[in-house]
Parts: sequence; C-alpha cells; structure tokens
Amino acid sequence: MDNNNTPKKVMLSGIKPTGDLTLGSYLGAIKNWAERAEQFDCYYFMADLHALTTRNNPADLRRRTREQLAQYVACGLDPEKNTLFLQSHVHEHAELGWVLNCYTMFGELSRMTQFKDKSAKNAENINGGLFTYPALMAADILLYQPDYVPVGEDQKQHVELTRDVAQRFNNLYGETFKVPEPWIPKVGARVMDLLDPTSKMSKSDEIGNGRVCLMDDPADIMRKFKRAVTDSESGAGCVRFDPENKPGVANLMQIYAACTGKSFTEIEQEFSAAGYGVFKPAVGEAVIETLRPIREDAARIIADKAYLEDIYTKGAQKATYVARKTLRKVYKKIGLVEKPF
Ligand code: TRP
Repeated sequence: MDNNNTPKKVMLSGIKPTGDLTLGSYLGAIKNWAERAEQFDCYYFMADLHALTTRNNPADLRRRTREQLAQYVACGLDPEKNTLFLQSHVHEHAELGWVLNCYTMFGELSRMTQFKDKSAKNAENINGGLFTYPALMAADILLYQPDYVPVGEDQKQHVELTRDVAQRFNNLYGETFKVPEPWIPKVGARVMDLLDPTSKMSKSDEIGNGRVCLMDDPADIMRKFKRAVTDSESGAGCVRFDPENKPGVANLMQIYAACTGKSFTEIEQEFSAAGYGVFKPAVGEAVIETLRPIREDAARIIADKAYLEDIYTKGAQKATYVARKTLRKVYKKIGLVEKPF
C-alpha cells in the first residue's frame, strides 16, 4: 500500500540464467529495477525453466542460477523490498504454462522472431520447448497479475502475445487475468555487441570479446572497449549520435550516457575535439567505475550460501501464495475438478 492506501501497481520480470549478466542486462534492465521498489510491488525471478530450451551442463546451470541471483542483489535489488525467486521453485509456472499452451496458437508461436532467430542459429536442437516458450512466459507473467512487464525490446513481442492470450482467455471465461503493459526503458535499453554493433550484446555469446560481463575485471573491460568497433571517421566531430550510419559510436554513446547520466549533446560537446582513441577508453573507464561496486558485492554474496538460500526461500514462499491464487481460479474456470486435499 502507498500513503493513500491504494495498492501499489505490480511489476514482474524474469531473466534466463544461461550466462553471465552483461553490461547490457544491467543498463538495459536491472539498473532500472532497483529504483522502482518504492513505487511498485516488484517480482523478479531467475527463469531456470526457460534455460532448459538449450542444453546446459547441470552443474553450470545450478551455479549460474545462484550467481545470477547474487548479481541481481548486488545490482541494487533489495530482497526486503522485492520478491526474488527461482522460477522452478514455484511450480505454478509450469502448470499454468501447460494450460496456456492450449490457448496459444501454432500460427502465433510460428511468428515469434526470437523462435525464428534461435532455431536458425541452433538447427540441431529445435525442441518443442523452444517453440512453446512464449506460453510459459505468458504464464510467468499472468500468474502475478502485473500491471507492467519491464523487458528489453527483444521481448516486446512475447509480452504482446501474453496480452493476446490473456484477452482470449478473459473473453472465453470472464475476467481472470490482468492484461499487462510492456515497459521498455529508454536510455540504455538496447546495448549492442562491441564488435558487432548491429546485434544485441548477448549473454550467451560464446567468444565474449564483444560483451562486457558484470564480473569482468577492469583490465578486461578496458581491453574490450579499446577494441570496440567504430567506423572509418577520425578527428574532431567523429563522436556524434547517428545510429543508422554510425552504429558502433551510437552504441558507445548510449553506454556512456547510461553510466554517466549525460545527454548525447553533452557527450558530443565533451568529445568534440577528440578522436576514437580518446573516446573509447573514456567509455571503458565509465563502465569500470559503474561495475566496480557491483562486482565486489556480488562476490561477497555468492560466498554466503545461507544468505542466498534465505533470499530465494522467502521469495518463493511469497510468490507461491500469489501464483496459487491465480492458478486455482484458472483451474476452476476451465473445468478441472477441485483438489480436495
Ligand atoms: N524471455 C525472457 C528473456 O529471454 C526471460 C523471461 C522469461 C521473462 N519469463 C519472463 C521476462 C517473464 C519477463 C517476464 O530474456
């Protein structure tokens, strides 16, 4: 409840524990989540069930899930103010996921650009889970009746599908789900790969020179920024915001803006006389200083197993209470016999 005794609006987002969190995950998503806790009732979960659409080494998946949670907390998500949990600990996700599969059309799933991209990249493992992933994601969201779903641009289509599925269900059975809005943060929403500024900085990119991870050490970060792709311009005026013709520079400017709070105009002025040889290390330095406290905190939390366990136990208990209520309503509406025990 806020001061006027109206319930806070609800927000929910998830992230797959398939790789190390990157600068892109931080600037594009998590950074904006920390400040919201005062205003919203926030749920965040590690989407470990979603991670199963690709093959993982089990020990790695387990370690990454824990590490990622620790990194979230280090990024400023206060476990006292946010509900932080692991998707697989709230089994209502898988259950509602199945139900919503039956209300999501083959045609709709076939149109998902993420499915098309991922199946093109991974032709030897186009499994059913990869295809029906958006139905599980719809369940993740609709269980908590959120008002807003903060996601990167690449997930917008999935949130739109979620809205369609919710509306379809509500039309058939009466008001059951709140129809949520996607929430796309503005600055830094889409951090691109440093070596290929036309594709998003991915946490599952294997080589890793184009992405910066939260846990990278400063020397590594500087090296990656010094090597970042720009263009063939040089000297005064080359640092200017022109995403279409200068995607590498635009990406670096977005990163610098997000780390320093400066506007593009201010950045253009600051570097008006400089070439990329000055600009790139300046971006590297800003990133190093932004990530330093996060890296140190995360390392401390990862080492404290009991503390981490306490966070995800309390989070799952709270999430389960809400999720169960929605699932019970759904089961009843679609005609499943109520469980008497
Ligand atoms: N699909 C999202 C991603 O790949 C992760 C995710 C799973 C998610 N369930 C969600 C995001 C629910 C927001 C809401 O990044």
